[in-house]
Amino acid sequence: MIEIVFATNNQHKLKEIREIIGNMFTVRSLEDIGCREDIPEDAETLEENASFKARFIYDKYGYDCFADDTGLEIYALEGRPGVKSARYAGEDCISENNIRKVLKELEDVSDRGARFRTVISLIRNGQESLFEGSVEGIILREKQGEGGFGYDPIFLPKGHTQSFASMGPDKKNGISHRGRAMQKLIAFLKHAPSLP
Ligand code: IMP
Repeated sequence: MIEIVFATNNQHKLKEIREIIGNMFTVRSLEDIGCREDIPEDAETLEENASFKARFIYDKYGYDCFADDTGLEIYALEGRPGVKSARYAGEDCISENNIRKVLKELEDVSDRGARFRTVISLIRNGQESLFEGSVEGIILREKQGEGGFGYDPIFLPKGHTQSFASMGPDKKNGISHRGRAMQKLIAFLKHAPSLP
């Protein structure tokens, strides 16, 4: 079985990725490989952040590795919070604060269009490949649902009646930004499984 490191310790993301990948690959976390470092995520784009994280692990620990970076891009806010999604309300803030800030900024805004966008960088045998997935939707006026994480309670994907936090994980993974980017990664790995 192919072993691959996912450069994260975010348990929500690990769970999601393992559910999407099923038993095709063994996915190891940073903790699994003994990496306790805080890998910087302060670049200006999702692509640069994902690349930096994957390259960092490959170069330092020698494992084939992939890393993702995700942003919520709200059109009326010129793409914010975007690459700053994790720390939109300030360093060390929690999702609740980020959600409150977004809802406040959109208080009098009727154009509520937004998308989640994920970029995955895979470094395999030293070579990088990038995969992207996105999902369009709108920002709700108040939180809906208890599941998911991050901005899930205020994101209603286009064509659906439940927020990401209200739908079960299978349904979210089937249409989500990360799910779509992951499907591209999996298709790639399946077609190049036995590189030296
Ligand atoms: P990350 O850098 O890829 O971890 O994502 C940055 C931030 O975007 C996270 O801290 C979350 O607040 C948010 N985020 C990422 N993925 C999701 C998702 O699937 N649902 C809701 N929020 C997300």
